[in-house]
Order: sequence, then structure tokens, then C-alpha cells
Amino acid sequence: MDIRVLQAADIPHVQSTNITNLPENYYLKYYLYHALSWPQLSFVAVDVSRPKRTPYDPPKIVGYVLAKMEEEPENGIQHGHITSLSVMRTHRRLGLAEKLMRQSQRAMVETFGAQYVSLHVRLSNTAALHLYKNTLGFEREKVEPSYYADGEDAHSMKMDLSFIRAQVDGEAGDEGDEVGDMGKKEDTEAVPDKAKGKKRRVKMGRTLGVGDLVERNESKT
Ligand SMILES: CC(C)(COP(=O)(O)OP(=O)(O)OC[C@H]1O[C@@H](n2cnc3c(N)ncnc32)[C@H](O)[C@@H]1OP(=O)(O)O)[C@@H](O)C(=O)NCCC(=O)NCCS
Repeated sequence: MDIRVLQAADIPHVQSTNITNLPENYYLKYYLYHALSWPQLSFVAVDVSRPKRTPYDPPKIVGYVLAKMEEEPENGIQHGHITSLSVMRTHRRLGLAEKLMRQSQRAMVETFGAQYVSLHVRLSNTAALHLYKNTLGFEREKVEPSYYADGEDAHSMKMDLSFIRAQVDGEAGDEGDEVGDMGKKEDTEAVPDKAKGKKRRVKMGRTLGVGDLVERNESKT
């Protein structure tokens, strides 16, 4: 089994997995929107046990997680959201959903500095509730009445991701000693006084608001 990032070519297969497993279905462009806006966050589980007969054989996608960042969080806190998760019946209870979720959560922290992740789940979905609450450690925030199209209520759930941030920081500090010229500590004498201790804040990635991404007429002075 191969767990890898969702690619645009996987989308029709992910869509068909979604239609098979869940009543909440989406237009193709909604998947594409996820893949283009947050390419690091969505993953697929591919059964690679059977070799391809031709180069044109589609990948055998048996599970996926479709995830995004909240674009304009009301509380101002960067956080991720799980849009959809499912695993084909034939491949359930193998730990695939757990792995897909953990990969996505890690990417949310590493790439976008997410502080927590949220999701909705049907009150009646015991399998998913077990996964979210007992296996992963999500907490129930509130019940959202009639959240689903058929009138069923949803649990709104949330999981703090600060433990992943601590892991990532720990790993970054464990890269061994620097070697060669590159490893030489910065010669503070050689740095001009003006530049010493000066840090510049740079906006990156999704922290840019939509306004910042609009093309401007630079010819105006
Ligand atoms: C929910 C779902 C994604 C779980 O996928 P999965 O790959 O079988 O889950 P995992 O193998 O990673 O199991 C994770 C945990 O959930 C438990 N679990 C899985 N299916 C379960 C079930 N039917 N009843 C009770 N617990 C279940 C596993 O035992 C495991 O618990 P553990 O960590 O204590 O051992 C899958 O059942 C599914 O696709 N369901 C239909 C779509 C769906 O409901 N998606 C979620 C929408 S919010």
C-alpha cells in the first residue's frame, strides 16, 4: 500500500471512491480547488499490490483524505479542516484512515503552521467517531443541528496540533553538527552593524489575504 499526496490525475478516481462510500459528494472542481490551493494536505491510499498491465492503467485508489486550510478563520487562528475522508470497504480496518489523517495533520502544521484541525461527523457514524475520538484524539466541540442534507445532526470536532509542532521542532534540532565551510558559525565581526540583529517579517503562503494576491497596476506612482 502506498500513501502519497493527491495528484490532479487522481481526482476522478477519488471522486468515484467518495461516491461509493459517502452521501456527501462534490463537483470535480471542488477537488481541484483543494489540490490547487493546498496541494500538500490531501492524500490517497493506493493499492500497489497488483502490477500495472499497461502504462495507462489508472491507480487503484482505495482511500483518500481531502483537506484544506480555513481561508479566513473567524478567530484569526490558522487551522486546517477535513473536508472528506473515506476508505473502500475492501480495505477497511487496516489503519489506512488513521495514516491518511496523520499525514494530512502533519502537513497542515509543517506547511501552514496550523494550530488545530476541525471536522464534522454524523452522530450515527460510530466507525468515524471511534477513529477521530479514540484513535486520533479529537474532542467534541458542539452539535450542529441538521448539518447534513438529510437532516442529521453533526458533531463539530477539533484537535489541537501543538504536539506535532513540538515533534517537528525537535526533529529540526536533531540534524547533526554542521560540517565544512557551511558549518562555520557566522562571523559576527564581518556583519555590518546595521544588519546585526535585524529581522524582517516576510508574509508567506496562505497567510497572504486575497487582497494581497490581486495584481496591481505598478505603473502608477
Ligand atoms: C471511517 C473510516 C474512514 C475508517 O477507515 P479505516 O481505514 O477502516 O479506519 P482505520 O483502520 O484507520 O481504523 C481506525 C480506528 O477506528 C476503528 N474502527 C474502524 N472501523 C470501525 C467500526 N466499523 N466500528 C468501530 N471502530 C472502527 C479501528 O478499530 C481503529 O481503532 P483502534 O485505533 O482503536 O484500533 C471508514 O470506515 C469509512 O470509509 N467509512 C465510510 C466513510 C465515512 O464514514 N467517512 C467519514 C466521514 S466523517
